[in-house]
Amino acid sequence: MKVTIFGTGYVGLVTGTCLAEMGNHVVCVDVDADKIAGLERGQIPIYEPGLEPMVKRNHAGGRLRFTTDPVAGIEHGETIFIAVGTPPDEDGSADLRYVLEVATTIGKHLDHYAVVVDKSTVPVGTADRVRATLGAALEARGAKVAFDVVSNPEFLKEGDAVNDCMRPDRIVIGSSSEKAVALLRKLYAPFNRNHERLVVMDERSAELTKYAANAMLATKISFMNEIANIAERVGADVEQVRLGIGSDPRIGFHFIYPGAGYGGSCFPKDVQALERTARAHDYTATLLGAVEAVNARQKHKLFDLIQRHFDGALQGRTIAVWGLAFKPNTDDMREAPSRYLMEALWEAGAKVRAFDPEAREETRRIYGERDDLVLCDSLQATLENADAVAVVTEWKAFRSPDFELLAKTLRERVLFDGRNLYDPEQVEAAGLAYYGIGRGR
Ligand code: UGA
Repeated sequence: MKVTIFGTGYVGLVTGTCLAEMGNHVVCVDVDADKIAGLERGQIPIYEPGLEPMVKRNHAGGRLRFTTDPVAGIEHGETIFIAVGTPPDEDGSADLRYVLEVATTIGKHLDHYAVVVDKSTVPVGTADRVRATLGAALEARGAKVAFDVVSNPEFLKEGDAVNDCMRPDRIVIGSSSEKAVALLRKLYAPFNRNHERLVVMDERSAELTKYAANAMLATKISFMNEIANIAERVGADVEQVRLGIGSDPRIGFHFIYPGAGYGGSCFPKDVQALERTARAHDYTATLLGAVEAVNARQKHKLFDLIQRHFDGALQGRTIAVWGLAFKPNTDDMREAPSRYLMEALWEAGAKVRAFDPEAREETRRIYGERDDLVLCDSLQATLENADAVAVVTEWKAFRSPDFELLAKTLRERVLFDGRNLYDPEQVEAAGLAYYGIGRGR
């Protein structure tokens, strides 16, 4: 089938590539000429495991093309996906400017029936707005072209995006048009094998499903961070509590890991946007506000532990920071807990020596060259003249460090474990002081 994707960010690029992999002819459109030129040369703008060979293979096979020309894209697509960004505006609601610009562009040039698919995470009611905007642009040129607008939210996780896209656990389609649903059913048939994964519903329910899913996951995390904070005050170990509650299948083991707070481009933005949507409909989403408040506090947790250990005297100290990306297997630094930690350390007069397998370049882009930040090429290099180690991201390569070496090298022999990766007793046996999240030490 012929597919066009507007936007080559995470969602657009991964979706387009996976659809091409399944034999469709996909054209990806983006306004960023450098990005498009790079993609044409096989340069992938993001770090995402497995994506690069898939892009190259499908590009070489002629099934995946990149262009800055929206008209060529609109002429091509039987289904046209809108996967452009929806950044939060000043009050935290999703800014739909780019989505509606694409809708106008489609309306200006569409000359055949197409299904326009909202793939970006957009507030409830956006499909109506896209339909109205597109319809107005068609009308302005006096064109009578039939089209449908469908909500089809994406549920991929950074770092595992290709896998999530190729093997979705559900495909949510919000539409009341039988024709549009039939077309998408055909497009998704290769992803919908063995058992029915398509969940067809009305548009608004599909739009809310996306926010509800992310808000639920964020709630689980904030809940566990809250329990961790209680645990450390009452002398319990949240890691044991986690095992104790996760074995109840109604709770489950997934997404109940306490840590340095959730980050990334989705949870913080989506929880906030859903809260704003509720408020715009005269409802105060008390729980969502609490989820956000717990997370905001949790992002300062590691710094608080460090500050307390050093009795507030951080001037001239050097902290080795392990992990910069907001989670492993990505170079994404958006809302990363490492940023809160580093900024607080700098504010207090401390220096940072940091290592991350993928996000060093992105960190340099954000903070530039500064005296109080050294981006190291290895874990070992972070230890040079460092007083303590703070683990912020749970990369696999950080899982079994040489604690004896840490004890020998660190000036103050202290390890702050922001992801509860280590066995406190093992760390302490090596002669280091250990601080975790909600573990009473
Ligand atoms: C999230 C959702 O998991 C996806 O299902 C969704 O499609 C995506 O947002 C989106 O809306 O596009 P992502 O932001 O890539 O995906 O990352 P997650 O793996 O969900 O992690 C989010 C944050 O939660 C990270 O900072 C992670 O460290 C933190 N987290 C996760 C915890 O602190 N504890 C946990 O138990 C799990």
